[in-house]
Amino acid sequence: MSQDIRLDVSYAEKFVTEPEAEGMKPVVLAAQKTLLEKTGPGAEFTGWVNLPETYDREEFSRIKKAAEKIRDESRILVVTGVGGSYLGARAAIEFLSKGRGESGLRVLYAGSSLNPDQMNDLLDELEGTDFSVNIISKSGTTTEPAIAFRILKALLEERYGKKGAAGRIYATTDQKKGTLKELADAEGYETFVVPDDIGGRYSVLSAVGLLPIAAAGGDIDALMQGAGRMAEICQSDDPEKNPALLYALYRCALEKKGMEVEVLSNYDAGLHQICEWWKQLFGESLGKEHQGLFPAGMDLTTDLHSMGQYIQDGRRNLIETVLDVKNAGRDIRVPEVPGNADGLQYLNGRSLNEINHKAMEGSIIAHAEGGVPVMRIELDRRDEDSLGQLFCFFEYACGVCGYANGVNPFDQPGVEFYKRNMFRLLGKPGYENK
Ligand code: PA5
Repeated sequence: MSQDIRLDVSYAEKFVTEPEAEGMKPVVLAAQKTLLEKTGPGAEFTGWVNLPETYDREEFSRIKKAAEKIRDESRILVVTGVGGSYLGARAAIEFLSKGRGESGLRVLYAGSSLNPDQMNDLLDELEGTDFSVNIISKSGTTTEPAIAFRILKALLEERYGKKGAAGRIYATTDQKKGTLKELADAEGYETFVVPDDIGGRYSVLSAVGLLPIAAAGGDIDALMQGAGRMAEICQSDDPEKNPALLYALYRCALEKKGMEVEVLSNYDAGLHQICEWWKQLFGESLGKEHQGLFPAGMDLTTDLHSMGQYIQDGRRNLIETVLDVKNAGRDIRVPEVPGNADGLQYLNGRSLNEINHKAMEGSIIAHAEGGVPVMRIELDRRDEDSLGQLFCFFEYACGVCGYANGVNPFDQPGVEFYKRNMFRLLGKPGYENK
């Protein structure tokens, strides 16, 4: 079991005065109450709040069996979905796999874009390799995954026959309704459920995330345990004991003071996709009624050599949140060599994890001195327990921020606008005059 995650706000405190923090406290506490008591707008989509406790145990063990079957039969699993139907699984799989040095089932992704080159590259990868498909769509009608699935299904049927293909397709969708559910029932696919009361971007701890994570070799018991512990911590109304509440309090106070952008930084390639998941969670939940911090991500130290200048000295409208994983998966030391021909003698024999952390600390101090409020989320290590905590931490904080801003954090009306135009341009029946 990993240590519980912590939030360090010491480099943000000077940007939020005591009265400002005190003034924001009742606002976030009221928002937290609304979330936990399920009395706010979108309350019918807050099933994720209790999920680590109430999740369906029968389905959970079916997920483990299906994951084993996938690993036995295939060398590649193609996770087919978009937005909330794939970002969480991808974030988890990359978080858990980097640095473990294990090889097993490869997970590839389809249906998150309409780009033909991407699809052709995927088909090339599948050439001559056994694969299975997990199609994930709550509505069952989203264009990108639906097209990708039609292509993959045809390939599976050509290679394994209709029955063989059906045994390699797993559909995660609505329990009762929708095109995908009807197709799955008709063709005999094993199905898993996207619960009615959980929207895509809050669904990573349901079958949406759990099946691909388990198939990739992740320990989903430990994941749910970590999430369960954080869910309990998130019930506390004391920001000193509840890091999600403290994070929400600072984000909201800083937004109120005119901040416009939040950069989520990581110093660990295994966290890149966590940033992508977080961007959707916060962007789609809070970017409403002309409010919300714009969520951006940075991979450091790499981006210090491209975006570092802007963070240090560009417009002073941003805050930074750093994801700090204390222990690397596998460390490595700088080789000890005599002399100082490359100017690195002072680093002889030192651990890369230590050097990376010094770079992190140096950047945090520099950015704060440059006028950027910085918060640091500290994780013990990259494992399932920490990850379950992190997912839960962000989901709670996001729900609280939404209600504190007076918006519904569980809908996404703005996403429909591009679809209407695309469907009209493609001649979809019913969209002629939209
Ligand atoms: O978070 C969301 O609600 C969205 O990102 C959806 O997950 C995404 O649009 C995919 O929808 P669906 O699962 O219905 O295919």
